[in-house]
Amino acid sequence: MSAFQTLAWRDEALVLLDQTRLPGELVYLECREVETAARAIEELVVRGAPAIGVAAAYGMVLGAGEALAQEPEAFRRHLQQSRARLARTRPTAVNLFWALEQMDQVIAATAGLGNHQVREQLLARAEALRAEDETLCRRLGQHGAALLQDGFRILTHCNAGSLATAGFGTALGLIYAAQAEGKQLKVYADETRPLLQGSRLTAWELQQHGVEVTVICDNMAAVVMRQAPIDCVIVGADRIAANGDVANKIGTYGVAVLARAHHIPFYVAAPVSTLDLSLAQGVQIPIEERRPEEVSRGLGRVTAPEGVGIYNPAFDVTPAELVTAIISEKGIARPPFAEALRRWGEGGNPG
Ligand code: MRU
Repeated sequence: MSAFQTLAWRDEALVLLDQTRLPGELVYLECREVETAARAIEELVVRGAPAIGVAAAYGMVLGAGEALAQEPEAFRRHLQQSRARLARTRPTAVNLFWALEQMDQVIAATAGLGNHQVREQLLARAEALRAEDETLCRRLGQHGAALLQDGFRILTHCNAGSLATAGFGTALGLIYAAQAEGKQLKVYADETRPLLQGSRLTAWELQQHGVEVTVICDNMAAVVMRQAPIDCVIVGADRIAANGDVANKIGTYGVAVLARAHHIPFYVAAPVSTLDLSLAQGVQIPIEERRPEEVSRGLGRVTAPEGVGIYNPAFDVTPAELVTAIISEKGIARPPFAEALRRWGEGGNPG
């Protein structure tokens, strides 16, 4: 479907579409060491919760490859160091930790096997996670497409599309699935300061998929909701607490407040691997703070005077009471969310 691939395993390397260079250049970064993969995650070469998780899984395969010639004990120590390095990259997207736990299971299950066999099994699990991510996103998209009618105008924030997953996307996956059903949709993409994932990435990938898209600055959302008008908001998520509070790109909370003020449904699309049922509420979700230069030197020039304070949280938390529905590969959950999310987390259906 896409003319680009967000991430792939090729010739013993993790190959990432370098999202820091889009939309100007379509270039790929080859990661052959765990350190290169970890930096790629930190620097947003690969970003978006599900894509970060899959990239980290492949990062563990790279870690295994680095220590193949060592004694089993040293090999396993190196795997633990690789895991620790990958876990330090970005704190908010729970998919990262979920994917690393999947790799922990492989490591535990291969105790006593030779280094090469352990690496092979890590690679097999990483490949399975990548394939599964795409399948789940397609299923999620089909559930969510039922919420979208022909002619809908949709507002989205950040990028929760093919670029943020192993393929197809979550929030944008709904749009691709509805489009495949013959519905014509129009999307308004918030530019998403400070790093412009909306204007650089969402607008680019929607254009690649032939979806009509208009970019707006973040501070235009209220007026567009009133004037367009907007039929629904759809966003992705980096972590969803047990009560349905949603961590997503900074600015999402503000969009949810605006949607409520304009009586517009606010939908969150995310796979079950984005749930963190160990956290009762969103306030417990760790929020990544990034370098001040992303704000003060944001657009390739000085955008704030030297010496002023800069606050740069990468995510915020939208309270569950502002969320109209959460869509996952298991179906559509409506408030109150706790019971449905618990059943999803345990492998059941929302009912
Ligand atoms: O900092 P980023 O670009 O990784 O933030 C991404 C988002 O906030 C996405 O909306 C979220 O990860 C969902 S991606 C399917």
